[in-house]
This record gives sequence, structure tokens and C-alpha cells, in this order.
Amino acid sequence: MRRRDFLTSLAGSAGLALATGVRPALGMEHMHHAAGGAPSPQPPHDPSAAGARKGSLAASDAIPPGRPFAAPATLGNTAAQPGMFRATLVAAPAKIELIPGVMTQAWAYNGQFPGPLIDLQAGDAVEITLENRLPEPTTIHWHGLPVPPDQDGNPDAAVAPGASHTYRFHIPDDVEGLYWYHPHPHGRSGEQVYRGLAGAIRVRARQDALSAIPERILAITDLRLTALGMIPENDMMDWMNGREGQFALVNGLNRPTLPFDALGRERWHILNATNARYLRLALPGHDLTLLGTDGGRIEQAQTGLSEILVAPAQRVELLVTAAGGRGGALVAETYARGKMGGASETSAIPLMQVDFSAVRQPRPLSLPQPLRPFQALPKASARKRVVMSEGMSMAHGSHGAQAMEHTMSPGGMGMTDMKSMMTDGRPSMMQFMLNGKTFDMRRVDLSSPTGAWEDWEIVNDSDMDHPFHIHGTQFAVLERMINGRTAREPFRAWYDTVNLKARETVRIRIMQAAKGIRMFHCHILEHEDLGMMGRLEVI
Ligand code: C2O
Ligand code: CU
Ligand code: CU
Repeated sequence: MRRRDFLTSLAGSAGLALATGVRPALGMEHMHHAAGGAPSPQPPHDPSAAGARKGSLAASDAIPPGRPFAAPATLGNTAAQPGMFRATLVAAPAKIELIPGVMTQAWAYNGQFPGPLIDLQAGDAVEITLENRLPEPTTIHWHGLPVPPDQDGNPDAAVAPGASHTYRFHIPDDVEGLYWYHPHPHGRSGEQVYRGLAGAIRVRARQDALSAIPERILAITDLRLTALGMIPENDMMDWMNGREGQFALVNGLNRPTLPFDALGRERWHILNATNARYLRLALPGHDLTLLGTDGGRIEQAQTGLSEILVAPAQRVELLVTAAGGRGGALVAETYARGKMGGASETSAIPLMQVDFSAVRQPRPLSLPQPLRPFQALPKASARKRVVMSEGMSMAHGSHGAQAMEHTMSPGGMGMTDMKSMMTDGRPSMMQFMLNGKTFDMRRVDLSSPTGAWEDWEIVNDSDMDHPFHIHGTQFAVLERMINGRTAREPFRAWYDTVNLKARETVRIRIMQAAKGIRMFHCHILEHEDLGMMGRLEVI
């Protein structure tokens, strides 16, 4: 039996209540007391009711929608000299009031939810101290920036609870765009991010021809909250498909209202800081132009877009042009990504109300051509191949095999059978692999010479989308192959994350400039934590 069929029958069995989160909510109770949170009443516990999860979750307006849009809080710079950025980020449990009158125990940087915006300039020297006041190890990874490998928060450089560590790096003069920071400890990145540890990094170019157009930063995070304001642990479906809660927040706000600039144009820098939510962004009735991707400006503006897909960990810079004074909403449309176990696909979710009432007819604007010069890519001197795959391990064997037999039997699967498929709260049978292996912190999977341009073929040999990410550099996408058809990439851009649909192959050209270990992985954080990650040694 293929895992997909197996998991589908599993989801249809009596085990559904467990698979969809009743037990994990109870597990959190203990954690809250341990972390010093206010004692809270027991959530309803009815493992036989498949609908139990719905009842225990907060309603989609429990976090009040419609509050005024607000930029993320900015991390203060304590350095006196120009060209230097120095600050401290304290990672710690924090009580946040999301549902009015209810304190949610989150994890936060400097008490901010999401973490504060780090506002940098190309050329800056950066010195940021992490103080770890969490009950477990953590690191800070500077996603997308060309930070030296030993400063990049790799899993083998964990900062112990109670310890602190200072990261030092330099932003090259030609780097600009929106980046982000988040934890990268071994096996626990997903949980630390969904509890609130993630923030945006804006790197401003020294000169920007579009700086007169007002700029907004939209850091989008995903949140699941119970009706009692708790952040529940992952259930088995989350582990398999990546976690998606009932909220997608913009700068920590639920569907805020943005008063659009009277001159009719704004630039939106959008960060997908969710664990696993695909953001198929649309602003019906108004015109979207793509100006930038993960690595900053693209070569030619892409005008007249009705939607743009921002996969987990990706960023875009959009030029939004108001088409008259009508209201509008930024929405993330439905996205089917081949979830396992019969889980429902990502439904549409409103992100932000936009109030265009002050807008006058925008004056014509001519965008620079190109937006940014791109040199011809150097020829590749080597090829590599990375295959993303899913599998079922029968190693945990007797349990797994028994569980499968039970599922096949008329009574379906009971609670005990489901529990036997989880080890330490994680599915023990599912495997997420790169080149047939799960992550090993001591293994070197690939190696590349410093400064060498290479063609990497990333193959998604599975039935689900996976966003591929590599640390320390930006790459060019050359072409994408799916269903026997090859499409050359239509415009030139820099990425550190590229989405692969089920059975898709993507060719990228990439170069690593610094010696050391770089991680590459699926950026559905649950998949990363389950081992869909490898190590590249740059020699
Ligand atoms: Cu966003 Cu390995 O990172
Ligand atoms: Cu990264
Ligand atoms: Cu994945």
C-alpha cells in the first residue's frame, strides 16, 4: 500500500480526533504551567468527537479584525558610529494579549510578536547579541543574507538556555531587499517559529530610484489559537503537511485596515514568515506589479499581475497602484498543494482591508529600465542534483505494521494505534528526505568549491509541494520542468527559496562565496525538523 492511500484511510478512521489535535491541546496545559503562564481551565476533552478541534479553536474574529495597520516595531540601534548596527535580541516566553482580556503565552524576541524589524543599510556592520531565555536551545539564522557560515545560526551552533551569543556580519554594498531572522535549532525550528520567534530584516540600498513611493512592510505569520488563547502543539497532520493555524496575521494584527496613500501608489514588502502557509496573494480590482523577490529588485518590473504566489520563507516587493477609490482586500487565495492524509487544502483567508478613499487619480509613473542591472550568469562548472522525497518507515515496525493492519480492519484505528505511530509527539513512520536520507548533523551531503558557479537540479519526487531553500546566497532560477514540459524562467531575479510543485524539477544556477557549512532544506518547517535537510560544505 502506498503511504498516500494508507494515510487517506487513516484520516477516515476513528483516529481522526487524535490526529487533529485533541491530545496536543492537553499537552500544552503542562507546558503553560512549567513556563510560568497563568493557570487555565482544562479544555474540553472528548476524543470520540471528530469535531472536537473546531470547538476548541478560537473564532477567526477572536483577535479583533479591522484595527489600523501598523508597521512592525523597529529594533533600536545602540551603536553611535554610522555604518554600524548593534542590538540585543532576547528570546523568551512572553505574554501577549491577542484575544482581548486573554493573555497568550508566546515566545518572542524582545517581547514583540512578531519579532522587531531590523532596519539596515547596504554596507552596514552588524553585531547582534542573542540572549536565550527559552527553556531550550535556539539559534538565530539570518535568512537570505550572505552571512559567514559560522555566524549564520546553524543547528550545530546552538545557544544553550541561559546563554548568550553575539553574531557578527557585514552587509555587502550590493545587497538590498527584505530578509528575515528565525531560530534554526536541531529539530525544533518549527515550534519556535510558530510560538512567535521570527522577524523581518529590511536592507535599504544606498540609492533607490523608487524611494519616493511610500513603503510598507508586511510580515505575515501564521497562528493557531485555542478558544482559551493557547498556542497548541502540532498534531500529526501538522507534522505531515506543515502547520497552518486559523490566523494569518499582518505585523501581528488580524486583518488590519490600511489607509492607502493619497497619491495612489505604494510599495509593499511582503514576508511569508509562516511555517507552511502558501500565500497566493491577490488584491482584486487593483493593479499589482512585481518589483522584487527574495534577493531584492528583479531586472524588469512584471506589470499587470492579478496574483502572486509567495511560498513559505519567500519575500516579494510589490508596487500597488490604486484603481480608483473603491475599497479592497488583500487576500491569500485557496492553494492546493497535495496535502497528505485527506487534510483539507489551504482555504482563502483575508489578510488586510485596504481603504482607498483618500486616493486621487495616480499620475503616470515610468519605472526604471532595468530596475536593476543583471550581468550574464557565469557558466556552470559542476552539476548537482537534490531529490526531495517522502517515505514510510517500517523500521518502527511492529507498531507501524500493526497500526496499518488495524486501519485495514473494519473497526478502523483506535487511539492506542494512533499513539503508537507517534514518538515524542512526532509521527515515527513518515520520512521526509533529501537524496534518500534524513538529516544528520555530522554528515556532509554535498561539497562545492568557493566561488564556483554550479547548476543544481532540484527534483520533487513526491505528491506535495515543497519549498527548497539554501543558506548563504541567492540563486537564479533557469527553468522549471513539470508534466514533460520545460518552461524557461520568464524574468531574471534572485531567490533563496523556490517552490517545487508535486513532481516538478527546477534548475538553478548558484555560487557560494564563503567557506564553511551551509544548510539546504525544505522550508515547510515541520519537514525540515523531520529531516528534509542536508549540509553543503563549501571548501
Ligand atoms: Cu529560513 Cu534554513 O532557513
Ligand atoms: Cu535560510
Ligand atoms: Cu516539505
